[in-house]
Amino acid sequence: MLIKRPADIEPSEITSESVYQRRRTLLKMSGLATAGAIAGIPLLSLAEQEGISGRELQGVIESPLSTAEPANSWQDITTYNNYYEFGTGKADPARNARDFEPRPWSVVVKGECDKPGRYDFEDLVDNQQLEERVYRFRCVEAWSMVIPWVGIPLASIIGRLQPNSNAKFLRFRTLHDPERMPGQRRRTLDWPYTEGLTMAEAMHPLTLMAVGLYGRELPNQNGAPMRLVVPWKYGFKSIKAIAEIEFTRRRPRSSWEQAIPSEYGFYANVNPEVDHPRWSQARERPIGFGLFARKKPTLMFNGYADQVASLYSGLDLRKNF
Ligand code: MTE
Repeated sequence: MLIKRPADIEPSEITSESVYQRRRTLLKMSGLATAGAIAGIPLLSLAEQEGISGRELQGVIESPLSTAEPANSWQDITTYNNYYEFGTGKADPARNARDFEPRPWSVVVKGECDKPGRYDFEDLVDNQQLEERVYRFRCVEAWSMVIPWVGIPLASIIGRLQPNSNAKFLRFRTLHDPERMPGQRRRTLDWPYTEGLTMAEAMHPLTLMAVGLYGRELPNQNGAPMRLVVPWKYGFKSIKAIAEIEFTRRRPRSSWEQAIPSEYGFYANVNPEVDHPRWSQARERPIGFGLFARKKPTLMFNGYADQVASLYSGLDLRKNF
């Protein structure tokens, strides 16, 4: 749930629980590094032993759009993943994506826009605009985490690509490279992984192109070097390792919609009132509190209803699931 701050408190006076938790993790990380230095062990090697890795991102500002909920640990976020290009088990991506090299990286931009072409990652993502956004992440499998992403608003990338008036949707595709992504050697999905948004969803200020986690570059298993985060939708909309962005007139078909259309729709908005055909969506299991942790009620649009419900006015959300 998004917690609103009392109007009479200056934002600068507040250290929210999530920021506090995040600082604790960062302090732990730097403490490990210092301990390593004192002991004569190369800097960060102890942090690396804890599994914390990736180059630190500079100049990241804290976004006012963050939830105040405490964030999950680095361990939770980087070892319990869905990323079928690296295996179908939750622990597979951390193991199998270890040697994936996400740089250099380029993204093909095509379709209904005035600036198509192949863009280097560095040209597409303006490092000056990096923000930390702590979002609740709700998976369609009825579990959730709170994740401190670093990224830039997708709207700012789209603005530079200059879509024309025919552009009604965006289609995103993951890299297709079975040599580097072993899961693509099996036909678990119709590769490359594909996702789509309406133009209004893509331009919404909450929609983030994430390039980092906990102030560091995105780990491979979380979708390095860039992945989408759409906090009011089920996690499968958040496509990883994006290699292509296409502006389209017609609604694209996502990989999961194509695989099992009766279970996965185009919109995939978090909705406790519309069950998945095989399980309830009314509650969710927060990761990080053990297998038998109490489930909590799922909120409409994952708690972002005030900000996004108007995007769907007049749409029957039971039919357009
Ligand atoms: N993107 C690609 N390319 N391949 C995938 O298998 N899985 C999706 C989404 N993006 C997936 C993907 C699903 S089902 C979820 S729940 C989220 O990634 C998980 O993101 P996380 O591992 O960072 O939590």
